[in-house]
Amino acid sequence: MSLPDSTSVAEQLAAFERDLAAAASLRDAQAVRDRFLGRKNSVVAGWMQLIASAPVDQKKLIGRYANELKQQIEARWAGYAEAAEANARPAGAIDVTLPGRAPRLGRRHPLTVVRDRMEAIFTRMGFAIVEGPEIEDEWHCFDALNMPGEHPARDMQDTLYLGTPVRGESGQPGDLRTMLRTHTSSIQIRYMQAHQPPIRIVAPGRVYRRDDLDLTHTPMFTQMEGLVVGEGISLADLKGTLLAFARDMFSGTSRVRFRPSFFPYTEPSAEVDISCWQCDGKGCAMCKGTGWVEIGGCGMVHPAVFEAVDIDAERYTGFAFGVGIERVAILRHQVQDIRMFFENDLRFLEQFPY
Ligand code: DAH
Repeated sequence: MSLPDSTSVAEQLAAFERDLAAAASLRDAQAVRDRFLGRKNSVVAGWMQLIASAPVDQKKLIGRYANELKQQIEARWAGYAEAAEANARPAGAIDVTLPGRAPRLGRRHPLTVVRDRMEAIFTRMGFAIVEGPEIEDEWHCFDALNMPGEHPARDMQDTLYLGTPVRGESGQPGDLRTMLRTHTSSIQIRYMQAHQPPIRIVAPGRVYRRDDLDLTHTPMFTQMEGLVVGEGISLADLKGTLLAFARDMFSGTSRVRFRPSFFPYTEPSAEVDISCWQCDGKGCAMCKGTGWVEIGGCGMVHPAVFEAVDIDAERYTGFAFGVGIERVAILRHQVQDIRMFFENDLRFLEQFPY
C-alpha cells in the first residue's frame, strides 16, 4: 500500500461522502462510519498502523494526514447524525421530556371588576343595567337635563365637541352639535324617552372631559348613573338605596351623608359622602382626617327633566345619582393616582388578584 498523501485524504473523504449518501438507513450509515473510523480494520485505523512501518522521515507526515482524515470524517459524521435526528422528529412535534410551561392567565381590569361588582349590587336591588352612546348630542347631554345654552358646563373649555351637527331628535328644532358625552346622565334622558315609569336603572359607561392629566383627572373616566322613577319615590328611597350600596360595596358599617349641592337636573341636589371605610369614620390619611369620602352626586329628578321626556311630573317623582367608578375603585383599593388605571402597566394591574 502506498503511503497516504494529501490527495488520498481528499479521495477518502469523497469516498466517505459517497457511501454515506448511498446509505439507505441510519444503520447503514453507521456501518459506513465504522468502516472509515472504527478502531479496527477501518481506513483511519489502517493509516495509523502505517505509521509504525513507515520510514522515519515519513512518520510525522503520515500521522498528520491520518489525523486530518479522522477529524474531517468525524465532523462530517456529526453533521450527518444531527440532521438524521432532526429528520426523524416531525417538525413541531412535542418533546414530551421538556418541563411543562405554566399558562399565563389573563385577568379582568380593576375597573371592570369594580363595575361588575357595582352592577351586581344594583341588580340584586332590582335595577336593570342599560347603556347609551358615547357620542352624544347637546340635547341629550345638556338641554334635556335642564342645562340651557348659557350653562358653563357647555363651554368648549370643558366639553369635547365633535363638530358634526345632527338633526334634533324628539321634535327638537335646529341642528345640534355632537360631542363626547361629559356624563352618563344623558342615558337617563334616552331611557325615559323610550320608557314610561316605573323605571329602575343603572347605566355605566365612559365619559369625556377636557381635563389635563393629573393625580385625580383623566380626560376619559367612567361613571355609573342611577335613575328610579315611579309614584311616591322619595329622598328617603334615594338615601336608603345609596346606603345599601355602600354597605355592600365597602363595609357593613358604612354610613351615608348628603351635603346640599346643586345640579340643574335635580332638586334638591346633594353630594354623596360615605363614611371612610379605612378608619370607619374616625379620620385617617385616606379621608384627610374628615372621616368621610365623596363618591358622587345625586338628587330628586327636576320636573323640567320629566317635561323634556314627556313623563307626567304631577304623577311621578324620581331620584338620580351619578357615581365615579374610578372613585369607588380608588377608595376600595387605595390607588394613589387615577392615571394608573389607564397606563396598562402590568406591575399595577397584576396587583389585583382577580
Ligand atoms: N352628572 C354628574 C357629574 O357628572 C353626576 C350626577 C349628579 C348625576 C347628580 C346625577 C345626579 O344623576 O342626580 O358630575
